[in-house]
Order: sequence, then structure tokens, then C-alpha cells
Amino acid sequence: MQSFTYLSPTEVIFGKDTQNKVAECVRKYDGSRVLLVYGGGSVIRSGLLGQVRQVLADAGLACEEFGGVQPNPTLEHAKKGIRSALEFQADFLLGVGGGSVIDTAKAIAIGAANPTADIWDFWCRKATATHALPTGAILTIPAAGSETSNSAVLTCTATGSKRGLSSDLNRPRFAIMNPELTYTLPVYQVACGVTDIMMHTLDRYFNPVDNELTDAIAEALLRTVIAKGRIAVKDSHDYDAMSELMWAGSLSHNGLTGLGGPGDFAVHQLGHELSAMFGTAHGASLSTVWGSWALSVCHARPERFARYARNVWGLDGAGVNDLAMAGIRSTVKYFAGLGMPVSFGENPDIGIQKDEVLRELAYRCSFQQTRTIGTFDVLDVKRIYEIYREANR
Ligand code: NZQ
Ligand code: ZN
Repeated sequence: MQSFTYLSPTEVIFGKDTQNKVAECVRKYDGSRVLLVYGGGSVIRSGLLGQVRQVLADAGLACEEFGGVQPNPTLEHAKKGIRSALEFQADFLLGVGGGSVIDTAKAIAIGAANPTADIWDFWCRKATATHALPTGAILTIPAAGSETSNSAVLTCTATGSKRGLSSDLNRPRFAIMNPELTYTLPVYQVACGVTDIMMHTLDRYFNPVDNELTDAIAEALLRTVIAKGRIAVKDSHDYDAMSELMWAGSLSHNGLTGLGGPGDFAVHQLGHELSAMFGTAHGASLSTVWGSWALSVCHARPERFARYARNVWGLDGAGVNDLAMAGIRSTVKYFAGLGMPVSFGENPDIGIQKDEVLRELAYRCSFQQTRTIGTFDVLDVKRIYEIYREANR
């Protein structure tokens, strides 16, 4: 086991009607002037926004709203939010929605606490943020895990780059998780969420280090998400399935399922370029390339893929290489069964691309050939290009 520091300080308030506790949560973490961040309108249609507004008002908390966050949220929109937060003199950011909303709330929290900075410098590692306003979340989709993660992902539309900032400043103070708030989700978003939850653990599990306890936790999480995901795409009103997915979404990305190893996250890096260029949903960007990535890296440690096939998919019998391949096939088949695209051609936002586009994607993913990605197998620009080419069918 490699050395690690584990911090997961977010208070989780889980269960039916927990959104009614939002005012006490804000007060507990010293908030009095709340900037409430939300997305494209799902929380208006579901009535959640009105409910939260009322609970905050009844508790005497000042509240201003900042909506309009789009999936794959932009830097430009977050900067507008920073201006709103400063004008309102917000001292607390509350994200009500999914990963895009919560990430925007986190970005505003950093920007409002560093009003003279260009926050993109933090995302590009040109500067280090040292303080942020406190944030909290009311989650409406089990997916990104932003409600407990240390990460916030933004897209700069001017440069077409999608970047994540990992910092403990990004850990929300609290996460309110009521599985009933997910009932209004479209099936496609449920499937995108299931894919992303699996991928946060897969991108940690496939790394160079074996750790018995961490790996067993990861495998249990994956088995649970696979089983409950099948139910959730058929019936998003299944409280048990949505509960398990919601909790799994947080555990999958708060660090737990990769402790003691370096993680890999190549698939996330490959996917981010697809979302940046084509605007495809995050979960779909991952399913589009996972199979091609797995085929490309499997040779590095086929025994790891064989263990995955045995312990996650219940496969057995064949030799290591055959078992490894069977595990990859099961995973791709599962994503396809959820209705997720597993190639460029199947992804309606992308489609089959010309070779020059694949080369540009690889160039961008390698940060203009200044970095490699992955640890399970280290991928340079050429390997990255080959993976995109394999997925381009
Ligand atoms: O915007 P609204 O109208 O709310 O609609 C959203 C959006 O269209 C809708 N939705 C959410 N909850 C709903 C609902 N519709 C009906 N009923 C509900 N209960 O779903 C759509 C997708 O929402 P979004 O927030 O974009 O989804 P998700 O949670 O998957 O977040 C994706 C973003 O998070 C980033 C992704 O890159 C992407 O930008 N990630 C953030 C991470 C983090 N902060 O730790 C880690 C992840 O790997 C990921 O990169
Ligand atoms: Zn993700």
C-alpha cells in the first residue's frame, strides 16, 4: 500500500425530505448570505427550488439565486456567478443540482474569495488557490460525485479546454442526498450517472498497485452499481436502487475506492477532450472510449483485468488473457445495455470523425504533447491517438 492522506470531511445528510434541513446545515457552517446556484431549470420544474427558497427564508437567511448552469459548465458562466456573489456579498455557496451545478458553486466560492484573481489560472496550475467560501450541495443526480469530491471541472469555451481543479478547498461542507429528488431524471441521465460512478472506481482500480482491502471495496461498489443501475434505467422511481446509486456515487469519488494506489484516470482525460470538442455528456464521453482504452492497456497487466472479470462480473474458467477479454466485453456490453454509446459512431454528439480530428483530440489530450496520461499503462500522444482511432467506428 502506498502512503496516503485521506480527507473526506463532508457531512452527509441522507434520506427522504432531507432538503428541509438545508437552513440548519447552512447555519452550522456559518452561512448567512446564500448564493443558490442551479442549472437549466429541472429544479424549478420539480418544485425543489421553491421549497429550498422557502426553507431558507423561514430561517431568516438572505438568499440570491444564480441559475443557468449548463452541463459541462463553462468558466465564462462561473465568472458571472463570481460577480453575482461579490455584489450580493455572499458568504455561502449552495449548489442545488448535479455535478455541473455543484462544480460551478465551487468555482464561484474560489473566485469570490480571490476577487482579483483570474480563476482559470488555478485550473491551469499557474497559481494555487489558498482560500474559498464554504459550499454545500443538494444533490439531484447520482453521477459525478462532486457533492463529496475535492474536484471541480470547468470548460473554457474560448480555448476549448476542459480542466479539473483538485483541491481540498473544493470539499463541500455538507451534502444533502434525498434519493426521491432523482425521480424526475431522464433515463439517459440515469445511465450517464451509472457510467460515471463506475468509471470513478474503474479509473482508480486499474492502476499499478494491488491493495486487498481497497480493491475489495472497489469490487463491491462496482457489483452494487451494476446491479442497481440495471434497475434504475428501467424504473428511476425505485427508492432502493436510487439510494444505493446515490451513496455509491459519493463513495466512488471521495477517494475511498483508490486508497493506497496512484489511480489512473486516463479514461477521464480522454473523455474530457470529447466533451470539450463535441459537448457530449460526461458519462457518455467515458463509455465512448472505455472499451478502446481497455483493449489498448490490457497487455500491461492482464491478471488485473482477469481479477476484475472474476470478482466483479463473476466470470471464471478461461486462462488469464481470455478472462481479461471476457471482463472487457462484459463491461462494454453492460454500457451498451444501459443505452450508452460505446464508440464514436454510436455517440450522436460525435459520429465518425476524420483522422485529422483524432490527431487534434490526441494533441489536446496530451496538453500539446507536454504530458502523458495514466499509470496502469502510461499513454503518450501516439497511444492516445490510437485509442481514439480504435473508438472511431
Ligand atoms: O440543468 P438542469 O436543468 O438541472 O438539468 C440537468 C442536466 O441537464 C439534469 N438533471 C439533474 N438532476 C435532475 C435533472 N433533470 C431532471 N431531474 C433531476 N433530478 O441532468 C443533466 C446533467 O446534469 P449535470 O449536472 O451536468 O450532470 P452530472 O452530475 O453528471 O455532472 C457532470 C459534470 O460534472 C463533471 C463532468 O465533467 C461534467 O462537467 N464532473 C465533476 C466531477 C467532480 N466535481 O468531482 C468529477 C466527474 O468525473 C466529472 O468530471
Ligand atoms: Zn467522472
